[in-house]
Amino acid sequence: MQELVTSQDGSHTVFSQKYNAHYHSIYGALEESIHVFIISGLYYKVRHHYKHISVFEMGFGTGLNAFLTYQECERLNVRVSYTGIETDPVDSTILDELNYFPDDPLFSSMHQSVWDTRHDLSDLFDYKKVNADVMTYDFDQKYDVIYYDAFAPQCQGQLWEAPLHQKIYDALNPYGVLVTYCAKGAFKRMLRSLGYKLESLNGPGKKREMIRAIKA
Ligand SMILES: C[S@@+](CC[C@H](N)C(=O)[O-])C[C@H]1O[C@@H](n2cnc3c(N)ncnc32)[C@H](O)[C@@H]1O
Repeated sequence: MQELVTSQDGSHTVFSQKYNAHYHSIYGALEESIHVFIISGLYYKVRHHYKHISVFEMGFGTGLNAFLTYQECERLNVRVSYTGIETDPVDSTILDELNYFPDDPLFSSMHQSVWDTRHDLSDLFDYKKVNADVMTYDFDQKYDVIYYDAFAPQCQGQLWEAPLHQKIYDALNPYGVLVTYCAKGAFKRMLRSLGYKLESLNGPGKKREMIRAIKA
């Protein structure tokens, strides 16, 4: 069902046979995560002087975005409460092989922790891995940042359409942001129709564009 693959920057990604798609850009998994989610999402709120940031990730997957966020909150001394949703947790044999943070036992401890329960990874970072389908998930709190890391629209069309995105918009705090690697025209038009103000940013590597959507 899932296979380990090395992307062009040397970092691993996973190939999902179920969705016939990679979890990250094959040109650079780590590069993409840092650029799209950390720099364009988390830092946006840090730059606006937020000291406690709530993050929701659609598609927890390998936990790469979650752990990078933990590392940044330690480095920048900001608090983060993180929630990541996932229907199909990555197999433990693959998680054990990932080359992201080889010397950090906290990465394995995050993966071994119980789902659907909030845990502290440190004094600054708490997280909850939710084993559920985002389509039917009832958001029980509001967030400052959404890392929108679903498989591409050609794999999972419904995840890029208005009914789900209205629910996500409603789950954002005022001035909250959604960041994603996808910059398809129809997706951008739909986000604007929900009330977002859109910023087109340079994508990771050679990718021309990515999106930051701000709840005005
Ligand atoms: C592009 S990958 C995410 C990669 C992940 N952020 C990482 O860093 O490894 C998309 C993820 O969304 C999950 N997914 C697919 N459909 C979902 C749904 N309806 N609800 C929740 N998760 C879903 C997949 O199983 C997959 O792990």
